[in-house]
Amino acid sequence: MEFKAAATQLSHKEILQELEGLLTGRWITDLANTSALLMAHFRDINWVGFYLVAEEPDTLWLGPFQGNPACTMIPFKKGVCGAAAQDKKTMRIENVDEFPGHIVCDSRSKSEVVIPIIKNNKVIGVLDVDSASLNRFSVDDQKFFENVVSIILTKNH
Ligand code: SME
Repeated sequence: MEFKAAATQLSHKEILQELEGLLTGRWITDLANTSALLMAHFRDINWVGFYLVAEEPDTLWLGPFQGNPACTMIPFKKGVCGAAAQDKKTMRIENVDEFPGHIVCDSRSKSEVVIPIIKNNKVIGVLDVDSASLNRFSVDDQKFFENVVSIILTKNH
């Protein structure tokens, strides 16, 4: 499999094609490479990664990611990630400073999108993407990240 050089910006379609080629069906491996793929090819993001539900219910633990070291544990209900997990819906935040309860992990982050990962109607984690630009993520970007999550789930059933 050929992997394009890092820091090349690719279209949504091209990133999805690369993703299909990278996935193995091994959960942590796939999450790790998905984070790396998105950081390398999605323009203007400073943090991307996964928080995963482990032993305790309603608690997200830091999983594979790219970016600065981040908060290790986020309860459902807290922050943007917790809200996405609790409500089982994507959160697309134009300005994180205006989101009540936003958890600052990287002070550069200005906008954020969080996609819940749902299996058998249960939230098993979230995909979190941060940008240092305000209002970085469009509805189209949101759909793209939702697609990324659904492709990973399809390969890891
Ligand atoms: N800002 C997130 C916390 C995770 S970091 O951005 C990596 C939140 O409010 O849930």
